[in-house]
Amino acid sequence: VENVSVGLLGLGTVGSGVVRMVEGHQEELLHRVGCPVYIEKVLVQNLEKERACVIKPELLTSSAEDVVNHPDIDVVIEVIGGIEQAREYILQALNNKKHVITANKDLMALHGAELLSTAEKNGCDLFYEASVAGGIPIIRTLVDGLASDRITKMMGIVNGTTNYILTKMDKQNLTFEEVLKEAQELGYAESDPTSDVEGIDAARKMAILASLGFSMNIHLDDVEVKGISNITSEDLEYARQFGYSMKLIGNARKDGGKVEVSVEPTLLPDTHPLASVQNENNAVYIYGEAVGETMFFGPGAGQLPTATSIVSDLVAVVRNMRLGVNGKSVVAPQFEKQLKQAEE
Ligand code: HSE
Repeated sequence: VENVSVGLLGLGTVGSGVVRMVEGHQEELLHRVGCPVYIEKVLVQNLEKERACVIKPELLTSSAEDVVNHPDIDVVIEVIGGIEQAREYILQALNNKKHVITANKDLMALHGAELLSTAEKNGCDLFYEASVAGGIPIIRTLVDGLASDRITKMMGIVNGTTNYILTKMDKQNLTFEEVLKEAQELGYAESDPTSDVEGIDAARKMAILASLGFSMNIHLDDVEVKGISNITSEDLEYARQFGYSMKLIGNARKDGGKVEVSVEPTLLPDTHPLASVQNENNAVYIYGEAVGETMFFGPGAGQLPTATSIVSDLVAVVRNMRLGVNGKSVVAPQFEKQLKQAEE
């Protein structure tokens, strides 16, 4: 492998972050993977729009074919979001023997099995680190770092938008609507923020984490979900007076064969480590029988944090290319279940 050419689908908040990182971290990338990595084509909806990154106009295209069918592109990064179109582009890219990186948790939750098996069939990698907890390398932690242990408990703040809303409503006494608007402007919220606010986004992420951590099939339907839309500034103030903070907490517990996963607003004493997680930050607490207590903290949303996970996936893909071992990555258990169902 002499050099690696990347095609980008989408140039919104996260896509612009990917361009900024690939262009701005050339030295690090060269050092880490041993060959140059560059962006060849970028799919955008509107060729004329102003961009949040510097990009040569000749790299832009409004046709996905120019990316997924491009003969020189080795890796396709999908950051357009949504389900159907993203699925179609990713399948096309994989069937054209291109490795794929996506931040799309909704898509992976619904069609992960199909996409991962298509990747495997084509000898391609499909990585999705950015789909859970933004800049925290939590998927890799569960798949590799803690792979030897028996994990029995996970607890997390895994949605940046709601944590941002709860922090600002509490500290600045703003209304729910005002802070949600801010979170949208900062690029933290989903295009339809209902899934953030109602806890669905967090539930998807907890299902992925619990499936990987417990090596079981946990589906979104298995997660009990309650969002934060009914929480008022008064609730937060009342909690504070008694030394508590309100957080949207994902809980996953395994006791023998019994597993419980939920997402709900929870009152935490101010002394609890998750109580100090502010703004769009995320944190995941993991208890393993051998390792004991571990905790992972970092930004859960936003341009460069999310791009960090994506570009680290890119590093992993390129390393695999150089070793000739693409397509051999772990298939998450919940996706195996979907796959079996799809085959039946
Ligand atoms: N809307 C998501 C969040 C983005 O707020 O956490 C990152 O997955």
